[in-house]
Amino acid sequence: MNKATAIAPANIAFIKYWGRKNASLRLPCNTSISMNLSASTTTTTVEFSEREKDEIVLLEEGGFSDAEVIRVVRQLDVIREYVGTTLRARVASKNTFPKSTGAASSASGFAALTVAALAALGQHISEKECTILARLGSGSACRSIPDGFVRWEVGVRSEDSFARSLYPASYWDLRDILVVVEQRGKDVSSSRGHDMVETSPLFADRLKAIPGRIARVEEGLASRNLSLLGNAIEEECLNMHHVMQTQTPALYYWTDRTITLMDIVPHWRREGIPVYFTIDAGPNVHLICEEKDEQRVLKRLKELSGIEQVIVNKSAPGARLVDTHLF
Ligand code: DP6
Repeated sequence: MNKATAIAPANIAFIKYWGRKNASLRLPCNTSISMNLSASTTTTTVEFSEREKDEIVLLEEGGFSDAEVIRVVRQLDVIREYVGTTLRARVASKNTFPKSTGAASSASGFAALTVAALAALGQHISEKECTILARLGSGSACRSIPDGFVRWEVGVRSEDSFARSLYPASYWDLRDILVVVEQRGKDVSSSRGHDMVETSPLFADRLKAIPGRIARVEEGLASRNLSLLGNAIEEECLNMHHVMQTQTPALYYWTDRTITLMDIVPHWRREGIPVYFTIDAGPNVHLICEEKDEQRVLKRLKELSGIEQVIVNKSAPGARLVDTHLF
């Protein structure tokens, strides 16, 4: 019936995607590794028909901006070209988290859109192929398709820059406690930030250090060793932000409250709570811990001021089709 609905999780990058060697193909400069997030998802329904033009709506306050609609239509064009159709689409989307929290809405959004659009057109393609198509919409979206803990291969050409699951969601009961310190949207989009990465004098050294850090993250995952994993992801987060801050124009995503949290997390560790931070392109802080320590971290957060919202995520499966449509 040309209609399908998909749900896709956002993901938190342990090794970040920052910088790309081909902007239009979204080919990254390095391999990245992430965990899918259970409480931060996008649901999207797509229906293709002989209509005149695409109709795209976000079912929440504020809706999509013009620029966002253009990006969605561009991704529909990618899928139409892949499938060989001229049908136009009606698309409706909704998030479980406020878009303004910067909780990687483009990752869950483009993953859900890609999976729903392909299914609506009756395409049964491999997961690998699906991640390549999602990547063309938003780089990090390819990591929201496979299950649980995911690795996106740097690749040389488009065909070999795909994402695959390293471990299923059930492999390790990790938590990502997203601490929202500011609801404001981003001043500079990450897409634009990627394009300016070469202007940072620190970028070349970052690329040299990444293979060693990937090895530590993979070893931390393989042995379920949180201190090995956590130290590597904190180092990775700081390194990416140092690159961002030394780009031209400089990108400062941190606020006072971000820094307060970065500062306090090592103190909590010294007091016996194994928890580590990471931050994407925004001011909000992701606290990574095991299930057994979740309540202790939440209790500590209650003692702090200036926190707008706390979202507790578990590790989650990747994008999947569902039977309930949004229209
Ligand atoms: C800092 O995937 O949002 O979150 O490909 O332009 O859509 P586009 O960029 P995007 O970049 C994500 C950057 C990051 C790190 C990460 O998620 O790996």
